[in-house]
Amino acid sequence: MTIIVTGGAGFIGSNFIFYMLKANPDYRIICLDKLTYAGNLSTLKNVMDNPHFRFVKADVCDREAVYALFEEEHPDMVVNFAAESHVDRSIEDPGIFLQTNIIGTATLMDACRKYGIQRFHQVSTDEVYGDLPLDRPDLFFTEETPIHTSSPYSSSKAAADLLVQAYHRTYGLPVTISRCSNNYGPYHFPEKLIPLMIINALNDKSLPVYGAGINVRDWLYVEDHCKAIDLIIHKGRVGEIYNIGGHNEMRNIDIVKLIVHELGKSEDLITYVTDRKGHDLRYAIDPTKINNDLGWLPETKFADGIKKTISWYLSNRDWWEEIISGEYKNYYEKMYTGR
Ligand code: NAD
Ligand code: TYD
Repeated sequence: MTIIVTGGAGFIGSNFIFYMLKANPDYRIICLDKLTYAGNLSTLKNVMDNPHFRFVKADVCDREAVYALFEEEHPDMVVNFAAESHVDRSIEDPGIFLQTNIIGTATLMDACRKYGIQRFHQVSTDEVYGDLPLDRPDLFFTEETPIHTSSPYSSSKAAADLLVQAYHRTYGLPVTISRCSNNYGPYHFPEKLIPLMIINALNDKSLPVYGAGINVRDWLYVEDHCKAIDLIIHKGRVGEIYNIGGHNEMRNIDIVKLIVHELGKSEDLITYVTDRKGHDLRYAIDPTKINNDLGWLPETKFADGIKKTISWYLSNRDWWEEIISGEYKNYYEKMYTGR
């Protein structure tokens, strides 16, 4: 079995590659990644010499490069993680989100049509469902919840999902889609809530909480997400959508306080800043379908996962120090100075 994993130099894609090389040691895994600001080759250093692994630097929108790779490798499956993934960046500059997330997905699926494939799996997000009100804890996203997006990021992911479904219906492409809640764990890029707060706290920098900090996200340890995708590509039904998440809703402010306490820092570091435009209030997944159909449930409790994550950032300073000393500095100043 040969699998092309796009976006495998990013957060979830890299964790998926590590997981797959362990869980399916006879598989060949090819990572196709453009190495944008979010892709980091040093993340993959431990697998670079693995004879079952190959890294290819390419853009998913580059039809020629994508077709050449298919011609050479004849993949059995494609798992598409490649995306622009940060909501705040999409608010600043939507264009690249439309290009990578929509055109890139279509280009990959065109290659799948041309060369044949057993499965094209699209890694999507619960953000395509929009948000839920804070005062209705009884409501959850199911696979039947209508698409109702808020940000350029979620809109581009929703557009890609619609295209994936269209390629299934029109061309019979064997697709599956997963829509996951917020992930956390090792190799999470420092621009996102949890790593940003860990790293800022470690550096005694202020902790910028948007608005009142009462927005709710449903957090899933990244390895649980990887296990769910492994199950879906092997056992999931073609044409189906699977929500992935685990009833672990937390308010942003409670996560930030937990990190502050774990690191023995002061809550005085917490600074309330101007809210995100169009800020989604609450995400919450109902995982009944993937539980019933594939027997998946999250295994890592948040209390354990966050400890593992903090300890990973403590023992992998080189990884994130290199990132925050580069282009990330300009991003951080632009987004947070005077906010
Ligand atoms: P990430 O930003 O950490 O990584 C994205 C990767 O894609 C990077 O390695 C980057 O170099 C690569 N990439 C970007 N544009 C590319 C292009 N044009 N061609 C080839 N490679 C390109 O993202 P992530 O957090 O790992 O998310 C991975 C996927 O999971 C995304 O599709 C995202 O929408 C989805 N998702 C993420 C979360 C989350 O909590 N992080 C939750 C649900 C779904
Ligand atoms: P983020 O990690 O960007 O993920 P998403 O927007 O895709 O859910 O943000 C998670 C939550 O944390 C979201 O409600 C916005 C909030 N947030 C802050 O309060 N401060 C920050 O500096 C960041 C990056 C996010």
